[in-house]
Amino acid sequence: MNERVPFPVLTPEEAAAMIHDGDFVGFSGFTAAGSAKAVPRALASRAHDLHQGGEPFRVRVLTGASTSDDLDEALARENAISWRAPYQSSRTLRKRINNQETSFLDIHLSHLPQMLDYGFLGTVNTAVVEATDVTADGRIYLSSSVGVSPSILAHAEQIIVELNGYHSQRLWEMHDIRRLPRPPHRNPIPIEYPLSRIGTPFCSVNPEKIVGVVHTDEPDGVPSFSPPDEISTKIGQHIVRFLLDEMHAGRMPKDLLPLQAGVGNVSNAVMAALGADPEIPRFEMYTEVIQDAQIALMRDNKLTGASTSAMALSDGMMRTVYDNMDFFGPRIVLRPQELTNHPGVVRRLGVIGINTILEMDIYGCANSTHVCGTQLMNGIGGSGDFVRNCYLSILQAPSTAKDGKISTVVPMCSHVDHNEHSVNVLVTEQGLADLRGLGPVERAERIIEKCAHPEYRDYLHGYVERSEMGHIRHDLGHCFDLHRAYLETGDMRAAFGAAV
Ligand code: COA
Repeated sequence: MNERVPFPVLTPEEAAAMIHDGDFVGFSGFTAAGSAKAVPRALASRAHDLHQGGEPFRVRVLTGASTSDDLDEALARENAISWRAPYQSSRTLRKRINNQETSFLDIHLSHLPQMLDYGFLGTVNTAVVEATDVTADGRIYLSSSVGVSPSILAHAEQIIVELNGYHSQRLWEMHDIRRLPRPPHRNPIPIEYPLSRIGTPFCSVNPEKIVGVVHTDEPDGVPSFSPPDEISTKIGQHIVRFLLDEMHAGRMPKDLLPLQAGVGNVSNAVMAALGADPEIPRFEMYTEVIQDAQIALMRDNKLTGASTSAMALSDGMMRTVYDNMDFFGPRIVLRPQELTNHPGVVRRLGVIGINTILEMDIYGCANSTHVCGTQLMNGIGGSGDFVRNCYLSILQAPSTAKDGKISTVVPMCSHVDHNEHSVNVLVTEQGLADLRGLGPVERAERIIEKCAHPEYRDYLHGYVERSEMGHIRHDLGHCFDLHRAYLETGDMRAAFGAAV
């Protein structure tokens, strides 16, 4: 690291003092990867002190996606976030959003950079970004994620850089930064294969906007994943079987198509299942986040390369990458979310998207975001960018939640993020429903038989039979009976008299 940085060196507290009540602050972070750390922590402590003294202090917060606890969780605990976009996964912030204490904009991640460019969201007062280096002429070398940082940096009135000595000084070798011009001056994006490089390894800013640098030395703090459980393993196995059948049927190249995989334990288990199957060929990924499982697959030479916006790796796995940059450097490209999630590129490359949902309905619509239609979980994140534009869109969930009290297969989704026009395949541990070419009533039959838990199948078949005849059969008086039963009794099975 450049210890003699050409900008004022600040303590986190001095940096936090440059941010004022009501400001719009853009932080780096796409998951905990590359999330700003010391300045948001100091900001939370400042908010605490000001609130103790009866003074207001709340800011509007923008990041690439979710963040580490140092950011969303710390600031939400102090009720210091008035507005938030575009995604979050903090328990405390979730409560504040659902209590209407914090306003939340739940949008497609690929849309965010252009929303900033067009000025839809207002003026960004301060950017706080984590980096590995900054130069006098305004080159900022980002750390373990890119996300929306290039756009935040371009628009912010003042910039604070957290220089984190923990990260490898060679991270720049993975970065490929390019911002899209405004329409109608957009040329085709020349990403022709997942590892195509089209930009620079740094963000360029006006150095006069850099008001200071804060030194840190700490890992991203991504927790290790629990080993795959039986349910996730079965979901993974169904997906592997399906992909192999597609390859054998000639509907997919013998070396697969680039994969995208969402975040979380189920997703990690699916990646592990892909790695464990000797018939699955070596493949590439065009995705927005890579987790531990992908690094393990890369080390085993099963995953030959990945384009991503973030490396959300546990400390141990991050060390493996940093200690072996000669190997991993050429195999990973870190890009802005505008490019990792770009609909045109996703469609061009023929990406196979695998994402996790909360619930699916019997006609193939899916809910990723709102429990019982009202309670925000995390947000749509990048799932919509991929589901709508993939060559094949696969959505997965366990067939039940909360010890069987919730069926994730319902007559009608209580909130729809992805609809039947985009969804190709639904999977639970019970089986896989390939919906391609099926009309609504055939889809219902297949989803109930393949995906629903056996305890709920008779009820769901009965719902279709009792419903109004039509292209799609629904009974608007009873389509949410399962949800209502859950809200009233804590068990969806009360709707058919089988609650235990
Ligand atoms: N109704 C109510 N609660 C449900 C539910 C349903 N239908 N389905 C799951 N849940 C609960 C689980 O019980 C669990 O609760 P807990 O935290 O109290 O234990 C919680 O939701 C999370 O479920 P889990 O099975 O642990 O799944 P996950 O961690 O893989 O997260 C999503 C699932 C859908 C919340 C998550 O994948 C997500 O936010 N997706 C949207 C964004 C996205 O897809 N991004 C992809 C690009 S990276």
